[in-house]
Amino acid sequence: MRASALRIGSAHGKAILLGEHTVVHGTPAIALPVPALTVHASARPGAGSGCAHEASPPDQADEWKYRFQTGNGADRPDFGPRIAAERALSSWGLADEVFDITMRCGIPPGRGLGSSAACAAAAVRALAVLLDQPCDDDLLYESVQRGENAAHGRASGVDARAVLARGPIWFQRGTARPLPFDFDATLVLADTGSAPGTREAVALVGSHFDADARAGERLLSFATSLIEAAAGDLRTGRSEALGAKLSQFQAILDQLGVSTPEIDVVVAAAMSAGALGAKLTGGGLGGCVLALTHPPAAAGVAHAMSEAGARRTWALSLEGMAR
Ligand code: MEV
Repeated sequence: MRASALRIGSAHGKAILLGEHTVVHGTPAIALPVPALTVHASARPGAGSGCAHEASPPDQADEWKYRFQTGNGADRPDFGPRIAAERALSSWGLADEVFDITMRCGIPPGRGLGSSAACAAAAVRALAVLLDQPCDDDLLYESVQRGENAAHGRASGVDARAVLARGPIWFQRGTARPLPFDFDATLVLADTGSAPGTREAVALVGSHFDADARAGERLLSFATSLIEAAAGDLRTGRSEALGAKLSQFQAILDQLGVSTPEIDVVVAAAMSAGALGAKLTGGGLGGCVLALTHPPAAAGVAHAMSEAGARRTWALSLEGMAR
């Protein structure tokens, strides 16, 4: 029996510390939830609005609004949150019912901050509350991941796991485990303002691996050792060593063709202002840069990244994050 009132669900954004793109080809990745970036979704029984998909530009609070109806993929067949919502409905035996979902999203879309996965998770949670249905992490992950695959072409699952995580994760081949660390450092996230599309970036990287499989294997093996060593740095609090690995990983991403002149300028500005390491985060070809800093240097690094063209920055303390 379903209720008729409006119900709300929410989720948060994510940042990949290391391993984007190579994770699609089997390496591990380290990712973190970003609780400051949130999305709220509301669900109600379909009111016959017939709205297939509607997206509004951000308002003054920097919130994007999306509206869609389940069972109605006419305008955007690749819209992950709708696909995730329909997957959850079908697991509850309600595939034929129609629901209207509205989302207020404070996560800029297409910037590598997990907007599509978080919207999908919030939509499924809102439906679960409305319908009083079970919604454990497995159902959430499977639903969100189905949406991510449709949106990105080939999704590793790291975004879906990270937006559902309560702390930093070590991810590999679909599974995630908590990565406990206690680290006196700050991550500065900077939005270059462009929204490139993860699908294109994943396809571009795939074409590099297809073009030279042996070179690809060597690069993946180097990436794996770098990420494993970085997990050790996180556990033992070696911030300088971790920063150097972030910069080394940026060189890998550059080699794979997903860095851009705009990203390079913001990365260089962060380094000149005293960051310990900096790299793009997420799909690249635009989107966001993250820089690791000692906490007292964070404000100066954020300022330098803004001066270099970043539209907006966020500071994320790593201290106590994994507790
Ligand atoms: C996107 O946030 C991360 C990528 O590695 C894609 C994926 O893992 O599915 C680029």
